[in-house]
Amino acid sequence: MSPTWMGKCSHCSAWDTIVEKVEIHSEPNCASAVFATTVDEFGGSIEAIELLDIEAPNVGRLQTGIGELDRVLGGGLVVGGVVLVGGDPGIGKSTLMMQSAIGTVKANEEGTTVLYATSEESAYQCKMRGERVVEGFDNASLKGVYLLADTDLERITAQVLKIRPKLLIIDSIQMVYRRDLNSTPGSVSQIKRCCLELVYLARKLQMAVMIVGHVTKEGQLAGPRVLEHLVDVVLNFEGDRHYALRGLRGAKNRFGTTLEIGLFEMGERGLIEVEDAAAYLDPEAPPRAGAIVCPALHGSRCLLIEVQALVASGTVGQARRRSNGLDGARLPMLIAVLEQHAQLEMNDKDIYTSTVGGLKLIEPAVDLAVCTAMMSGAMNIVLPSNMCAIGEVGLGGEIRSVPQIEQRIAQARRRGYKSLLVPITQEKMGGSGCIGMASIGALGAFLQKNANRAQSKMQLSDGEKKRFTECY
Ligand code: TYD
Ligand code: MG
Repeated sequence: MSPTWMGKCSHCSAWDTIVEKVEIHSEPNCASAVFATTVDEFGGSIEAIELLDIEAPNVGRLQTGIGELDRVLGGGLVVGGVVLVGGDPGIGKSTLMMQSAIGTVKANEEGTTVLYATSEESAYQCKMRGERVVEGFDNASLKGVYLLADTDLERITAQVLKIRPKLLIIDSIQMVYRRDLNSTPGSVSQIKRCCLELVYLARKLQMAVMIVGHVTKEGQLAGPRVLEHLVDVVLNFEGDRHYALRGLRGAKNRFGTTLEIGLFEMGERGLIEVEDAAAYLDPEAPPRAGAIVCPALHGSRCLLIEVQALVASGTVGQARRRSNGLDGARLPMLIAVLEQHAQLEMNDKDIYTSTVGGLKLIEPAVDLAVCTAMMSGAMNIVLPSNMCAIGEVGLGGEIRSVPQIEQRIAQARRRGYKSLLVPITQEKMGGSGCIGMASIGALGAFLQKNANRAQSKMQLSDGEKKRFTECY
């Protein structure tokens, strides 16, 4: 224990390990109150009961009017539940919140109100955003949405008690503070305490609460990890703010699954729901080296996403490895596998990989596509444009099977992809057109063997032929 701020622990001499803790004397005791209400209101019980006697909790839900968001939430916002939405600055959190606010008023019974507490922007800035995101805007569309530009939690609570909204939006928690704590807004104790009180308020008043949180450079929700444990649902809004595609992924959901992913596109008039990312594929694209399509799973949906790799000459010892939309930590591992098992010399090569559209692909099932793109880029082998690849790559260079292969193959076929590189163990399940790959070595041999044939005798459509000859 130390009464003052210290950078170094006087006991163990470790730096930056001392965590601020503030004793809270004021009532009510939020933690116990929250816990008590959590247990009885969401279908729990004080007595232990046998699994077979447990019934589905009867939770009331509010529709946000945004199909993709409602789906990720498991059927809408739970009344009395708290949702934490995290994401990089500029990704579109405030836009999503404003659209949810307007949508909730519209999609639920008459008289539904929403209170939007903004702590980062002025009320007028928020109104302008509201006007922008409503199609065919008229003043009636903003009715029922109340705006409060304040950061003092007590004043926000006072307005909540006055307006009694069905949904309270806090944008963002980092700036909200309680006057009786003498730590600065954004500090661990402030964020934790404010969040706890919001949870308490949500339970007590039976309203839904959505809290916006920032994401740190490491991709974690800023503030204490404990924030994620306090709330009922944690959603991460991800993607690259320079691209249009955005994914809303559930990291925790007490009232539904975390398997669903909502897809959006940032447009001129706010976020537009996306059914399929096929618009980002160009079936007319000329065949080229370093790019291949991958049928990746996003929640229960399969999307075809193009994976690209550029292998350029670099300097030994200073070779750059960058990935955009792919797992950055996995890339060096895949490069090492290529060096070891396909005998590719990459230590003097700069390697850049990315996904088209900016959507994040984190499942290991995309490994084979990344390796194929890198190999084709490094060996300058043109891949047919109707080819796609799916499979996980192991450290031994083996290609491992992936979940839900049938769904992936069906989706690829539906979009006109005729040859599919799949794990050899799943070749039979895919039927004709599937080429089973046993290892990275086999992939290298396959690409090389087919290089000449692919370039000369490839089945090209007229459009492709024209563009092919234009390009080469
Ligand atoms: P914003 O919701 O403010 O992001 P966050 O709250 O996560 O920081 O919006 C982010 C970006 O989206 C901003 O650069 C402007 C852009 N944008 C559009 O392209 N179209 C729109 O209709 C809106 C409202 C914003
Ligand atoms: Mg914002």
